[in-house]
Amino acid sequence: MDASLPKRKEPGKSLRIKVISMGNAEVGKSCIIKRYCEKRFVSKYLATIGIDYGVTKVQVRDREIKVNIFDMAGHPFFYEVRNEFYKDTQGVLLVYDVGQKDSFEALDTWLAEMKQDLGPHGNMENVVFVVCANKIDCTKHRCVDESEGRLWAESKGFLYFETSAQTGEGINEMFQTFYASIVDLCENGGKRPIPNSSASFTKEQADTVRRIRNCKDSWDMLGVKPGASREEVNKAYRRLAVLLHPDKCVAPGSEDAFKAVVNARTAVLKNIK
Ligand code: GTP
Ligand code: MG
Repeated sequence: MDASLPKRKEPGKSLRIKVISMGNAEVGKSCIIKRYCEKRFVSKYLATIGIDYGVTKVQVRDREIKVNIFDMAGHPFFYEVRNEFYKDTQGVLLVYDVGQKDSFEALDTWLAEMKQDLGPHGNMENVVFVVCANKIDCTKHRCVDESEGRLWAESKGFLYFETSAQTGEGINEMFQTFYASIVDLCENGGKRPIPNSSASFTKEQADTVRRIRNCKDSWDMLGVKPGASREEVNKAYRRLAVLLHPDKCVAPGSEDAFKAVVNARTAVLKNIK
């Protein structure tokens, strides 16, 4: 046999997966799926009634993937219909509208609904979640910024993408990464592959970024009481600076949080004799 011939690669086995969409009504779940599968956008709102089902084939590396998509209705009215469909899922599209804060805040409730319906033996660790921050084309109405959404997603080990079903921005990239991660998971014995540790951050860092983002007051931000001494302020500042310094912390939003802490310290020290 000629040793110079390239080795023939065995084609990967085909795979059948189930994915579902989750998120409040009207955030754009159906439009995201339509944009990817049918390359079109419908601007008229046609609420999903219960569940819409579709099948599509995609290629990931050398594998052909048959995807069963269950597009769920976001309206609370359809809870009874939805709860049949959570089990045996490998991937979840978790969608919110960047112009609707309540749809972002509802993501935890969606996870809770899934967890409850899966029951005590259900395992959400073997599911790939991708968070879609949708309608990014509506820049004027945006009220959930990228770092806030990304921080929420990444602290849970979820993928995060900014998308617009209207313009198509982010949609293909999101689905390609989503499907590739599901294949990785299937090839990894049903466990989520461990993320690259150099790009991870601690819960304390994520919580601190979130806390600082919500603080309006400089004393509060530093975590010291008004009337604290210069030493107390500097000590609190140093602790936060070590936690959030951009060289040390990769949590989304940490750079802004670090700047806010620097400004808070300057403002507070001005008022201390
Ligand atoms: P339910 O089926 O009721 O749960 O809603 P859904 O999440 O499936 O929302 P759907 O995809 O039906 O979209 C709701 C509305 O938002 C429609 O009027 C869409 O045209 C609009 N929409 C969806 N995605 C986008 C987007 O990226 N940008 C803009 N501007 N509008 C969008
Ligand atoms: Mg829908």
